[in-house]
Amino acid sequence: MGTCGCQACSALAPKGEDMAKKPIIAMINQQSWLEPVGDTLQRWVEQAYTASGAMGQRIENILSGTWLGHPLHPALTDVPIGSFTLVATFDGLEAAAGGRTFARAADATLTVGLAAALASAVSGLSDWHYTTDEPRRVGLVHGLLNLGATALYTGSLIARLSGARGWGRGLGFLGYGVVTLAAYLGGELVYHERIGVDHAPEDAPTEFVAVLDDVDLKEGQPRRVVAQGIPVMLVRQSGRIYALAEHCAHLGGPLSEGQLKDSYTICPWHGSRFALADGRVLDGPATFDQPAYQTRVRNGQIEVGPAYDPAQHEAPRNGEQAPIAAAG
Ligand code: FES
Repeated sequence: MGTCGCQACSALAPKGEDMAKKPIIAMINQQSWLEPVGDTLQRWVEQAYTASGAMGQRIENILSGTWLGHPLHPALTDVPIGSFTLVATFDGLEAAAGGRTFARAADATLTVGLAAALASAVSGLSDWHYTTDEPRRVGLVHGLLNLGATALYTGSLIARLSGARGWGRGLGFLGYGVVTLAAYLGGELVYHERIGVDHAPEDAPTEFVAVLDDVDLKEGQPRRVVAQGIPVMLVRQSGRIYALAEHCAHLGGPLSEGQLKDSYTICPWHGSRFALADGRVLDGPATFDQPAYQTRVRNGQIEVGPAYDPAQHEAPRNGEQAPIAAAG
């Protein structure tokens, strides 16, 4: 299973890699031709983002759903799937009852579905280009099936507009079968492979616990510590001590191995940016904020405590012994 090894994944992963794969997943895993195709496609997406510079980052934030605080792709896919379901319904009614009303309704919903499929494909491609191993293979087949379904529906629309409504309905029903299989694989990616879900831990320490000698945390040098079993990235930056969950919300990357800038940290795996002060996601591909924890220094020890609330707390400066309550 393509998990990141973070606490959340470990808790939810099926017990043992030897657990029998579903036949369709096992079959996909045997398709060696997917590897070079995946390599090339991922490289193209990465190059397109890199070549676009700051604009590329903005586009990625939009396509990932960073602005929404939720992955965009699964929200968008509901539109084409819903539209194509309506197309099948209207086509069935047209075949059974005849009449222009059902035919017009089918054509209109098919046009909406095709437009939404395009937007879904672009956002899905953006999400997929960070995957590896099994999720990458399954995601690639998911995308290719959707591409095939889109081609069938495009042919269906052309046939309908040419007056060949029987052909149009036939291609539409075929497309719906392919879309259903693609949607099944999409579900596998989310519910089994955990693509698009929050990989940061849900739990926070329930009380302050000592994690490191104060003298051992150097300015600008992140450290990985553990507080009540929760891996934490500890940072002293501009004289303040910050604690964020170690595993990146995107796919579980180790934040303590990332890059520090003035007031934020950059994940080493795919470059998501999180504010040190409160864990807010500033740039994707992450869509969820990073959990932040309170810190304080007691008896020469740095302590990490419960979840950090910027309205209530302020990270301690060098030499301070306890969190400062926000005014008011
Ligand atoms: S794991 Fe992907 S940005 Fe952190």
